[in-house]
This record gives sequence, structure tokens and C-alpha cells, in this order.
Amino acid sequence: MSSAKLILNDKEFEFPVIVGSEQEVGIDLTSLRAKTGAITYDPGYGNTGACQSAITYIDGDQGILRYRGYPIEEIANNASFVETCYLLIYGELPNAQQLADFQHQLTYHTLIHEDMKKFFEGYPAKAHPMAIMASMVTSLSTYYEESDDPAVTKLNMIRLLAKAKTIAAFSYKKSIGQPYIYPRNDLSYTGDFLHMLFAVPAEPYQISPVLERALNLLLILHADHEQNCSTSTVRMVGSSRASLFASIGAGICALWGPLHGGANQEVIEMLEMIRADGGDYHKYMNLAKDKTSSFKLMGFGHRVYKNFDPRAKICKAITDEVLGALGIHDPLLEIAKNLEEIALSDSYFVERKLYPNVDFYSGIIYRAMGIPTNMFTVLFALGRMPGWIAHWQEMRGDSATKINRPRQVYTGAPERHYVPVAQR
Ligand code: CMC
Repeated sequence: MSSAKLILNDKEFEFPVIVGSEQEVGIDLTSLRAKTGAITYDPGYGNTGACQSAITYIDGDQGILRYRGYPIEEIANNASFVETCYLLIYGELPNAQQLADFQHQLTYHTLIHEDMKKFFEGYPAKAHPMAIMASMVTSLSTYYEESDDPAVTKLNMIRLLAKAKTIAAFSYKKSIGQPYIYPRNDLSYTGDFLHMLFAVPAEPYQISPVLERALNLLLILHADHEQNCSTSTVRMVGSSRASLFASIGAGICALWGPLHGGANQEVIEMLEMIRADGGDYHKYMNLAKDKTSSFKLMGFGHRVYKNFDPRAKICKAITDEVLGALGIHDPLLEIAKNLEEIALSDSYFVERKLYPNVDFYSGIIYRAMGIPTNMFTVLFALGRMPGWIAHWQEMRGDSATKINRPRQVYTGAPERHYVPVAQR
């Protein structure tokens, strides 16, 4: 297959076809407007390929997710989050020396400029940590110079990965009115983050290996997901030559929405609402199916996965393990399992291919870890950081990148003429 034909107004036009390394077929319509005068119409971009990418492969029908060719199950079971960051950004798994150097760099760039701490003081105590996270990441560009020099960009990628967890932890400490805990160079990436989140100056804090392992896994599961809303935002903003920090700040804002990364917070709030209402999950299943109601079953459905979300499968499998190891019985888990069981056999959900997504069980694990609900999406952002960086870098290095500028089909008033106010 090397070309596709389109007939418009009885005229035939031919377009080249590109085939990806997994035999994905794309019709190259870059010459469509020039040849035909027409544009494509695809709201939500469900059929539009905006770029060629070598980072992540998803087959939604088969439930396949691979980072740089490696199945998510293998990475999740064997790698560390830091190793995963290296893989996504540089394209290959690091050898022992490369990993040690990378780990060292991520450790030694964790401090944020002391003056930036004053920013946190300015936010109200009830500020959502996602708003703080987005503003602080964008603000990094005011302290750390950005330029087109590849060495500067490389350093800024490291800075962003290293400082993101300090920013995330400080935003949490701000929200509960506790003193900030500074990063420690003797701890692992995940251990250091847990320490900054949960330690208090008055007491020694013992990092739980169960929490460290669970956090490592959840960050890996969130590390990349090809052209989703936030990653496409990062690429789109970056296509105007906006800086790394500005582009990723925009991506964090896109992730915040309840249909995207914000769903993990919404899932827990939904489960809590069901419990407070007497635990009648059947009522809410019916509400989710009722087209006159705006209620959705949060944590269900996905634009791409139409069989199962492999991340959700891994999450569900470790939920019992983590809760068991921590000795926690969470009634919300029972409600979640009941909702899933009904949905998997209910014709509404089966016909629409709606399955639990990654956000359905991740919130229950975060909750068991003692992480407050409004921090869940911040954790998603922390995990997605290497994916955003890898895509920004790939987009910048791709000679086919042009400033992103979609077209539209105008449906407003035809030309008309101004009438002075007294005559209207
Ligand atoms: N509960 C009830 N009905 C649903 C749901 C849901 N969670 N999701 C989709 N549907 C229905 C929808 O009403 C539509 O029905 P109909 O064909 O009768 O009009 C049909 O299923 C197709 O849905 P859609 O909205 O056209 O699908 P989409 O691909 O545009 O949206 C989605 C995907 C994830 C935004 C959507 O499924 C949803 O809103 N889910 C809940 C929010 C959520 O969990 N988001 C996290 C996604 S995974 C994390 C991430 O990577 O962002």
C-alpha cells in the first residue's frame, strides 16, 4: 500500500501512505488543502496523526503499551522509575554506569532556588497543588536560563526531572502548613520524594519499602502514553518554540482536567460519595447509563483502549498487595470492585467497550499510602514528566515540525455590515 485515493467533486486525488514500525497506516494529507482546497474535519483528533514518534506504542484493541519497544509489564516488574526516565528520554535502557551517572545528576539538581520558596508563601493555603505545580514549573524559566544550546537544554531536562518532586512535595507541605523538608542526596528518587512529603523535622522518618515500591510502580505506569491531551499540549506549545519549562507547565494544566489525569481524584470522590449515600452502587451504575444525567463512572473508558487498559490491570493486581502489606482495609476498594464487576457484564459498558482505566485503582493505592486526594494528579504529573520531556525533545529535533496551527470549518454569520448603534 503506497497511496490512497480521494474523490471530491468528481475529481480524483492521490495521497501517499506512511506505515509505522507496527504496520500502523497513516494517509499523508499534508498536501490535501493545496491539492483540493478542502481540509479534514476531526474534532477530538481521534483519527488524526499529528506527528511520527518513536517513543511509545499503544495498540488499544489488544491492550498493548510499550515504552521504546519494551512491554509495560516488563518495565513495571523490573525497572526503577529513574531507569524508565532514561529509557524514554534517551531511547535505550542505561548500562550500570549510565544509570549511576543519571541517578547522580537527578540527585544533585533537586534543590530549587531559595527565592522560589517565597512563591509558595504567596499561595493561599487551600490552593490546589496542581495549580501550584503548573505555576512553579513555568516559573523555573525565570531562574534557570533557557536557550537553543543543546547542552543547556539537556541540563534543563535534568533540572526539571529533579526539581519536579521537590516542587510537588513543597506544594503538599504548604497545603498542610508544615515546614518544607529539603531533598536528601542519600535517598533514591522515590525514597527522597516520600521523605519530603511525610517527614517532619521533630521526628525521624523511616521510608517504608512497601510505599517506595508502590510509588515506583505507579510513576512508571504514568511515565508516557503517546499523543494524549497533555502530551499533545506540550508538543503544540513547544511547536511555537516556547521553552521546555513553559511547554511542560502547559501540559500540567492540560493533565489537570477531570477527563484526563484529574480523573484519579474524581474516582475517589465518586467512591466516597457512593459510600456516604449508603453504598448503593447499583444506583450510580444506573445513573452512569442515564443519558439525561451528567454523571459518569469516573475511571472508566478510554479513547484508545477498547479491550483493557494494561496499566489498570497492573494497578488492580498490586492494590490488594499494597493494602495487605500496610494492613489497611478500605471500604472504597469493595465499592470499586463491585462497580467493576457489574460494568464488565452490563450491556451498556460492554457495547461501548468501557473498562477500568489506570485511574480507577491508582487512587485507592495513593489513599492507602497516606497521600491526600488533591495530590493524586500531582503524582500523575510527576510520573508523566519523562514522557513530556521525551516528546518535547523529539518534536524539537524533528525537521517536519511546524508551528501547530489547525484549521476550522467556519459556521458563523456570512459577511454583513456595521450598523451604528442608534439604528439597531
Ligand atoms: N461512564 C459512562 N459512560 C461513558 C463513560 C463513563 N466513564 N465513558 C464513556 N461513556 C459513554 C459515552 O457517554 C458514549 O456513549 P454514547 O455512545 O451513548 O454517546 C460512549 O461511552 C463513548 O464515549 P466518548 O465520550 O465518546 O469517548 P471518548 O473517547 O471521547 O472519551 C474518556 C474517553 C476517557 C474521556 C471517557 O471515557 C470518560 O470521560 N471517562 C471518565 C473519565 C476518566 O476516567 N478519564 C481518565 C482517562 S485514563 C487517564 C488518562 O490517560 O487521561
